Amino acid sequence: MTRKILVTSALPYANGAIHLGHLVEYIQTDIWVRFQKMRGHQCWYVCADDTHGTPIMLRAEKEGITPEALIGRVHDEHRRDFAGFHVGFDNYYTTHSPETQACANEIYARLQAAGLIETRIIEQYYDPLKQMFLPDRFIKGECPKCGAHDQYGDNCESCGAAYTANELKNPYSAVSGARPELRQSEHFFFRLSDPRCQSFLRRWTQAEGRLQHEAANKLQEWLGNADENLLTDWDISRDAPYFGFEIPGAPGKYFYVWLDAPIGYMGAFRNLCAKEGLDFDEYWQPQSGAELYHFIGKDILYFHALFWPAELEHAGYRTPTKVFAHGFLTVDGAKMSKSRGTFITAASYLAQGLDPEWLRYYYAAKLAGSMEDIDLNLDDFIARVNSDLVGKFVNIASRSAGFIARNFAGRLCTCDESLPAIQAIRDRRAAIADHYEAREFSKAIREIMALTDLANQYVDSVKPWELARHPGRESELQAACSNALNLFRLFVILLKPVLPALGAKAEAFLNVAPLVWDDGATVLAAGHAINVYHHMLTRVDKKQVDALLAANRESLEATPQAAPQKHAEHQEKAAAIASAQAAVATAAGPHISIEDFMRVDLRIARISEATRVEGADKLVRLLLDIGSLGTRQVFAGIKAAYDPAALVGRLTVMVANLAPRKMKFGMSEGMILAAADSDGQTPGIFLLSPDAGAQPGMRVK
Ligand code: MSP
Ligand code: ZN
Repeated sequence: MTRKILVTSALPYANGAIHLGHLVEYIQTDIWVRFQKMRGHQCWYVCADDTHGTPIMLRAEKEGITPEALIGRVHDEHRRDFAGFHVGFDNYYTTHSPETQACANEIYARLQAAGLIETRIIEQYYDPLKQMFLPDRFIKGECPKCGAHDQYGDNCESCGAAYTANELKNPYSAVSGARPELRQSEHFFFRLSDPRCQSFLRRWTQAEGRLQHEAANKLQEWLGNADENLLTDWDISRDAPYFGFEIPGAPGKYFYVWLDAPIGYMGAFRNLCAKEGLDFDEYWQPQSGAELYHFIGKDILYFHALFWPAELEHAGYRTPTKVFAHGFLTVDGAKMSKSRGTFITAASYLAQGLDPEWLRYYYAAKLAGSMEDIDLNLDDFIARVNSDLVGKFVNIASRSAGFIARNFAGRLCTCDESLPAIQAIRDRRAAIADHYEAREFSKAIREIMALTDLANQYVDSVKPWELARHPGRESELQAACSNALNLFRLFVILLKPVLPALGAKAEAFLNVAPLVWDDGATVLAAGHAINVYHHMLTRVDKKQVDALLAANRESLEATPQAAPQKHAEHQEKAAAIASAQAAVATAAGPHISIEDFMRVDLRIARISEATRVEGADKLVRLLLDIGSLGTRQVFAGIKAAYDPAALVGRLTVMVANLAPRKMKFGMSEGMILAAADSDGQTPGIFLLSPDAGAQPGMRVK
């Protein structure tokens, strides 16, 4: 059955170069898509630049160009980089498009109609010079814990303390240097805390096969149990000046970049539909029979497994079939680093003349279906490419092609399909397909390479180069080389999702139409003529890798004024993630719901009696009058601060529904409220008092 499949990769930000870390994702997705296409499915791969937000706006301003000009330039660079690595998008679009805007407006309107949008006044730092609200990452100051200077608004790089921007001492704007002021502004929130969202997400995230196990477990943690309400509402608006889409009916308010970014998947597909004559609704309506897959990095799981499906569901669209998260790239076991030269851009890799298919092959050999990080070990990279791709795979063709061309005018004879190597390939084809389908590319590669060993054993055993020296053994030579070239063809089929350019060269050499997966069941007919063999793949030279590192090595002294700004841009995503995390984490941590609070029965109480307790030097025994609720006896540890006699007659606040506790001196039936400095800086205990007019028994809430 032909499947209809829509696949996306995360949309890269339009203010940075594509690097080898990004390429893990785009190569992974591309391999999977190429595999699906080779299987004959209708599979569409769309992506786009993620173009909105404060960092892009400020960056354009600094370059003295419009944001549109900036994203236009970066779009060209990104397209060139991806094409250079053979990432075969069916459409590479932009979120700054009429299609994305129309979809965003539509989704927003439907969420609003569903009662899931709420406005609220929030207080935020404002740069009076720049006349804009500042994202936390654009505020700096002194660490409230250790006093280190020039720290960001969320944590200290010197002592590691975490805090909020409001706690920074002597804050200043990283944009203008001005002292920011707190100002109020109305923001729009997507009500994730609504029980409809929570119960939907609980069902959706735990559906079998929807998410990887590690991801499903994380989501379970974030969502909590059915009786918990851990999600808080998500702030989806930003104030002007902002580069993005203005919210309909709300002048000066813009959609936050993370609202319209995933909607960019829809926009890119809608644009493709117009070009290809596809039916958008067939892929996006709630009962769609089409499959929808998002490939993402593990860092943006919040957005794709919480916010995005909740938006889609409640806006009346289908939700993703599956979300596939991958791990992060390390180079030689460490985070990519500019000073070591391992922060390697896609453009520099190509400019240094390295073959993109080396990297595609290496990533495939390392990638699994899990969220585990993957390491690009440069020595291993050189060794594997040279031994596997050149030594085992291409070698099969290069050792046989010349004899067929010279001695047989390029014609093959019958292939011996009973050869163990051919039989083994046929036996393993289905398992290899399953590995591709499950994104277990490393397993597919391991199987394929084991099969090339069998093929090479065959060639070594028949030794075409010796047969060629003995007149009279021509038919043996032709048979040996025909078998070898048929084996080569079968490997081309198995590796084509990973090596599309080499696949195309091989098809030209073999003189065949583009190979599809099912071609692996057949062999070339006797008499088939091949073309001249041209060199297909070179070996990696260590010198090339060294030159690549040198080209990417940046001296540590960055230009002084560029540094903070640049850093802020990089940190913007960290901030987005941190606030997304806050949507779940703070709910699970210090926040309680209004219902939680209302469970505490606070009452105005009149102290009708206060006496010392014999044998207890801290306690005072109080009799509290709480109106219609009667009187309660409470033992309070306030003797150091209050003379019992002076307490009689005054009003205070008590917890009236605290479980009674039997003490040495009698039952304690509640608690009175008093303030104390937990650090002990200000000694003393301070009983609460209501304003005049409050009566015993009144509820405090
Ligand atoms: N713009 C957002 C995605 C919006 S999707 C609606 C974004 N952009 S990004 O440029 O920072 O990253 C794009 C993708 O590349 C993400 O899935 C991210 O996880 C991935 N990677 C970025 N650096 C990476 C590594 N070092 N290693 C592996 N993947 C990495 O996130
Ligand atoms: Zn500090």
